[in-house]
Amino acid sequence: MFKNILITGGAGYIGSHVTEALLKKKKRVFIIDNLSTGHKKLINRNAKFFKIDILNKNKIKKIIHKYHIDSIIHLAANLIIGEGERKPKKYFKTNVTGTKKLLEACKKTSVRNIIFSSTAAIYKDGQFKVSENSTIKPKSVYGKTKFKAENLIKKFSKKNNLNYGILRYFNIAGSSPSKKIGLINKKSDHLFKNFSVEIMKKNPKLKIYGIDYNTADGSCIRDFIHVSDIAEIHFLVLKKIDKLNISKIFNCGYNKGISVLEVAREFRKQTSKKVKIIYTKRRKNDLEKIIATNSKLIRFIKWRPRFNNLSKIVKSCIIWENKIR
Ligand SMILES: NC(=O)c1ccc[n+]([C@@H]2O[C@H](COP(=O)([O-])OP(=O)(O)OC[C@H]3O[C@@H](n4cnc5c(N)ncnc54)[C@H](O)[C@@H]3O)[C@@H](O)[C@H]2O)c1
Repeated sequence: MFKNILITGGAGYIGSHVTEALLKKKKRVFIIDNLSTGHKKLINRNAKFFKIDILNKNKIKKIIHKYHIDSIIHLAANLIIGEGERKPKKYFKTNVTGTKKLLEACKKTSVRNIIFSSTAAIYKDGQFKVSENSTIKPKSVYGKTKFKAENLIKKFSKKNNLNYGILRYFNIAGSSPSKKIGLINKKSDHLFKNFSVEIMKKNPKLKIYGIDYNTADGSCIRDFIHVSDIAEIHFLVLKKIDKLNISKIFNCGYNKGISVLEVAREFRKQTSKKVKIIYTKRRKNDLEKIIATNSKLIRFIKWRPRFNNLSKIVKSCIIWENKIR
């Protein structure tokens, strides 16, 4: 049974929720993070934290040996699509070379499982509903680097007898019901974050990029999944791949499309302020619609989402934003 888990990027938005979920299951959690976009206040007191870059193979190896790490959850990455287009070298260094170094640090150690946070951004544009077997053709530098990292993990795991779980997240939103953690980084270019920040202002304006898409209300459609559901998926997938000694790839979403306009209307509903919804032109590179088929994941872990509800997700964002402003 796995027990000692090392999380890279554990001081980040998703990493802090995964840490919380694992600690609840009485696992021992070790975090490495360089705090480039992560935050000290998101680091759980009951986890052991090391301020280290994932490129630092030797230090990571020492930690693995010292604490008998059996599983790695690799979340550390650069992930802002626009920034990736402007700074491709930075993205390759962190997401590809960083993954390579981390894997090298696991060689000939006690590590037997690795979970990797991949993304819907690796799929070819225009497929709408995607399964794990849909065509892969990342448009962005970010998507390309994450797909390269997937391949490194597959190859390494095969050669070194590790089990891997590659989780392709769709759009993550919300914050933990514990009210202790949530998304801090304002530069994250995250729809729910942008709306949460705006809704705190006196005269909130919620911007919709493109209202002429071929969708029911004209705005883009995404599959938003609550961060606490994603966190639990990590635990359940890790448990199962460890038990069965196998490797798997999963889409992580609700198999449900929600439009950006629906999200804006829900934010408007949850405040007494006068909210303006503003329509501006499309952004370059935005996909019209993308939804995850999640039947493979549901079958494998007998998953029942706990937060599959737009109103709950928006509420958790507003509570968190109120707390940190
Ligand atoms: N947020 C989303 O909607 C979403 C969607 C799909 C996939 N993902 C993936 O989930 C993972 C976590 O994303 P997040 O939203 O929590 O972002 P985040 O920026 O909050 O977390 C990333 C963490 O990694 C750390 N980090 C970055 N580079 C590092 C390095 N070289 N060495 C050590 N630590 C480093 C950062 O300091 C940060 O704490 C990423 O791998 C991302 O690609 C996120």
